[in-house]
Amino acid sequence: MESSPSELPQWQALEEWRRSFASRTLANLFKLDPGRQQRWSFSAASIHIDISRNWIDENTFGALMTLARARDLEKMREALLRGEAVNTTEHRPAWHTALRTPPADPSVARSLEEDQRLFLGFAEALRSGRIQGSTGKPINTAVCIGIGGSDLGPRLVTEALGAPTGPVRVRFVSNIDPVELHNALEGATPESTLIVAISKTFTTLETLENLRVARSWLNADSQRLDAAHHIVGVTAHPDRAAKIGVHPKRIFVFPEWVGGRYSLWSACGLPIAIAHGHDAFLQLCAGAAEMDAHFATAPLETNLPVILGLLGVWYVNFWNTRSRAVFPYSQRLRALPSYLQQLEMESLGKRVDVDGHPVTIDTGPVVWGEVGTTAQHSVFQFMHQGTHWSPADFVVVAQHAQSDERRNRLLHASAMAQADAMAWGDSVLGAERSTAAYAITPGGRPSNIISLAQLDAHNVGALLAMYEQRTYVQSVIWNVNAFDQWGVEVGKKLLQQRLDREPV
Ligand code: F6P
Repeated sequence: MESSPSELPQWQALEEWRRSFASRTLANLFKLDPGRQQRWSFSAASIHIDISRNWIDENTFGALMTLARARDLEKMREALLRGEAVNTTEHRPAWHTALRTPPADPSVARSLEEDQRLFLGFAEALRSGRIQGSTGKPINTAVCIGIGGSDLGPRLVTEALGAPTGPVRVRFVSNIDPVELHNALEGATPESTLIVAISKTFTTLETLENLRVARSWLNADSQRLDAAHHIVGVTAHPDRAAKIGVHPKRIFVFPEWVGGRYSLWSACGLPIAIAHGHDAFLQLCAGAAEMDAHFATAPLETNLPVILGLLGVWYVNFWNTRSRAVFPYSQRLRALPSYLQQLEMESLGKRVDVDGHPVTIDTGPVVWGEVGTTAQHSVFQFMHQGTHWSPADFVVVAQHAQSDERRNRLLHASAMAQADAMAWGDSVLGAERSTAAYAITPGGRPSNIISLAQLDAHNVGALLAMYEQRTYVQSVIWNVNAFDQWGVEVGKKLLQQRLDREPV
């Protein structure tokens, strides 16, 4: 295989196709093809994507697919899903898909099933009141302490599924700034509180520090309370959790080969199960499994993660975009941009390829975003008139559970109006159009419309699996390892060296 994807003839063909768009407009692409929206819409696992507002035509789309085949995407897809050691620097699989579709190896399947049975059983016992605080009071608050992948995924899904369906409210703490823990403990009483410490390594400074403070908060009530009974650990290193005093019966585990940012499907999803229950957690995994099956078997040309991943490559490498925006039009998905920031920037922010050679092409862009419609009154000035642009994902929900029909339609119309303004600019404003230079909005800015019929556990699972696989597709095209994060390690080590020199 060539040392750099840019040396492939398919790469050069795409450069040609890019040039062919120089004299065209997105509006023109629609005018030439009245069936464009239908042609460029795809569905799988209850997720619908409309990519018609992109700079693509049959030629470019075909060339992107040819590039994917030249990069052996189909073989690499199998390697990921079969649990091969695709994490080349850490010599292990990135087998989060095995947490949602039982793998063929019965011993691995059994062990994963057992891990899941234990943490889901614990969540149900808490919800039903069978497990109580050490003084016999029911647990009504779970304070979940973790950071990065041990926080963002569980936090996003817990919020996305709406109000808790059980008696336990779930709060999240990641920052070492004590304000967040202080706020999470506000109104809670030690006797009715469970501290859930989630850390794959159980060495992460922020998590251990917050756990230390939470434990002293519990201990302040020590005359009545057995603090150990109120602490749960979730980790791939149970020995370390036990060493710092988490009771072995209160430790839930997952395998080392589950990456932190891919871990919400494991015992790290305990907060989701506490808030929404065993069945919701299984539906979440079922939605993800359905998307995985689609990713595994659908031809590249109709494969949602493949199409979205290739569009990502198209804009970074051929249109020189440096960022990508995500706008969920649902308050319950407000954490999606932060979650995707970690998923994509930690996975794709890489400067060497899998063979250790410096890459000669750009890799992962900055990922950013904001919940709609809030975003419309903050960042959309940049989206429409900035000198450089970000392709965007608009994530829309057809039927919001807690919304009336009028609000549903307002949310949907708001997302579509912004996508239209990005694509066509002010040219379609008609009589209201101003010719003043400062008012001109050029359009030609691409976006995807990603629609969910409703925001339920199944669809959230499918959505997140789609983004995970999309990320992997890009890593395969760029020939980088999506599953390590050595840059983060440098910062962690420097912090430790500083603390060793100047202890706090
Ligand atoms: O700091 C980066 C990172 O390693 C993430 O990849 C991970 O999700 C996070 O730290 C938390 O790590 P842990 O779960 O081991 O506490």
